[in-house]
Amino acid sequence: MKNLVVLTGAGMSAESGISTFRDAGGLWERYPVEQVATPQGYAANPELVIKFYNDRRRQLLEVKPNQGHILLAGLEKDFNVTVITQNVDNLHERAGSTHVIHLHGELTKVTSSLDPNNPEYIRELRPEEYEVRMGDKAADGSQLRPFIVWFGEPVPMIETAIDYVRKADIFVIIGTSLNVYPAAGLLYYVPDGTPVYLIDPKEVAISSGRKVHVIRMGASAGVEELKKMLSQ
Ligand code: APR
Repeated sequence: MKNLVVLTGAGMSAESGISTFRDAGGLWERYPVEQVATPQGYAANPELVIKFYNDRRRQLLEVKPNQGHILLAGLEKDFNVTVITQNVDNLHERAGSTHVIHLHGELTKVTSSLDPNNPEYIRELRPEEYEVRMGDKAADGSQLRPFIVWFGEPVPMIETAIDYVRKADIFVIIGTSLNVYPAAGLLYYVPDGTPVYLIDPKEVAISSGRKVHVIRMGASAGVEELKKMLSQ
């Protein structure tokens, strides 16, 4: 089976009702990114940051995977699919995708404030634990923090992601403005000769100079179209 590697961003989950970051009305217009998505913001006001992610986590209980997530999961019948996502929601998994690499962390997990990438401290929350409070502690005694990669922090999963991208027979980009590195740089590891598809209702600037099959559609209709193109 061919290796199909998909890089997804916030646009993947837009049709499930989760806001993107940089579109009009997006999250970064409503919340100051330096307050809620940087280690400095967390140090300055942990309460605010914990509440911000509690709200995001609660939203997971209200949304469901869209047709795009579901069709992607279905591609596992015909391809060896790896989903590399910048999203912190769990909609790929809930749609049935079995191999998902989260570059920017996961809302459903929490970790230590002192040593966030230590696997010993990373823990999956049950839905009834989604509301994290000040004073809730990780196994090392530090405040529980969201297992989220903030701006300025290392992206430990990028090396794993690169390994899969290097072996891609087909590469698909869905719903990302490609503004944030190192995720946006994954395109440079796609082997020459591997076809690249891009699904997004808006134009996305790609600087690599390589040929890209652009599917100018939302995620659900776009993955449907992709399926047709791949079966030809
Ligand atoms: N279907 C597909 N794509 C869509 C849809 C849709 N229905 N609606 C919007 N989009 C596209 C937008 O046109 C845009 O190109 O999704 C993209 C969203 O871009 P961003 O908001 O910049 O989100 P993303 O690229 O995922 O952001 C990367 O930045 O702050 C962070 O850590 C956060 O992981 C995030 C990273």
